[in-house]
Amino acid sequence: MAVIAITSGKGGVGKTTVSANLAVALSAFTEVAVVDCDFVLPNLHLQFGIDNPPVGLMDAVSGNAGMDEPIYRLKARVGNYLTSLIFVPSLSPPHLLKKFDEEKFIEFIQFLEKKSDVVVLDVSAGLSRLAVLSLSVADEVHVVTNPDISSLSTASKVLSVLNEMDKARGGVVFNRYDGEKRVVESSLGTLGIELSGLIRESKLISESWEAGVPVVSYKPKSGVAKDFIVMAEKILGIRNRIKLYGKLRLRFDW
Ligand SMILES: Nc1ncnc2c1ncn2[C@@H]1O[C@H](COP(=O)(O)OP(=O)(O)OP(=O)(O)O)[C@@H](O)[C@H]1O
Ligand SMILES: [Mg+2]
Repeated sequence: MAVIAITSGKGGVGKTTVSANLAVALSAFTEVAVVDCDFVLPNLHLQFGIDNPPVGLMDAVSGNAGMDEPIYRLKARVGNYLTSLIFVPSLSPPHLLKKFDEEKFIEFIQFLEKKSDVVVLDVSAGLSRLAVLSLSVADEVHVVTNPDISSLSTASKVLSVLNEMDKARGGVVFNRYDGEKRVVESSLGTLGIELSGLIRESKLISESWEAGVPVVSYKPKSGVAKDFIVMAEKILGIRNRIKLYGKLRLRFDW
């Protein structure tokens, strides 16, 4: 069982794209829950094609709803696997932010850990109080960066705070990789952390956002979908790659 937080220094580098696709890719192997922990500007629901989730995590952690209420079971497809995963949105009226109960949030994550093997948290950028709270419940933290100097330098600040928090497990996800290996190698040297994902730049990502389907399901044979599957396999320590194509299989009973 593991709680995996996806974070970044700078905003807009691809945390939500990575969280959704990693969660779907992981669901081909194990039971997954993915949680929108961007409490102020949540949008993970849009990546899953849900416009207006009626109840969200904010309701559960502010005492407005029970723990079970913001849990949505989604179906997904990864290659020839039909899978399902738990999704917890966070859309709710801004006034609920004032009622955010940190203890209830921790309890909610523990509650999800009982329902799944891996919990993926889409954390907001930077180091706000609630972002740090989300990071504090994680077993491993993956810091997303683009290969540009401003996202790399803020990633480096986040990594030093994670070290202080004793959250050294995880790695760095290079998103929007443009094929420049040299940049990745030298940045990894500077950041001093393992590479957990190398996700290429692809037009399919914006298409998949418009379609409301993560690219792993939207275009499963594409290079960028494979990048996410490789990342999921690496996180789970899977060496023998699964056969994604061929006979259709069910990962879970619907
Ligand atoms: N690999 C990629 N190739 C091309 N475009 C990408 C890629 N990853 C993300 N994008 C684009 O970057 C934009 C931001 O992505 P996303 O919302 O996932 O970032 P974020 O880090 O969650 O942002 P925020 O900090 O606002 O929460 C989106 O328009 C998305 O389409
Ligand atoms: Mg986001």
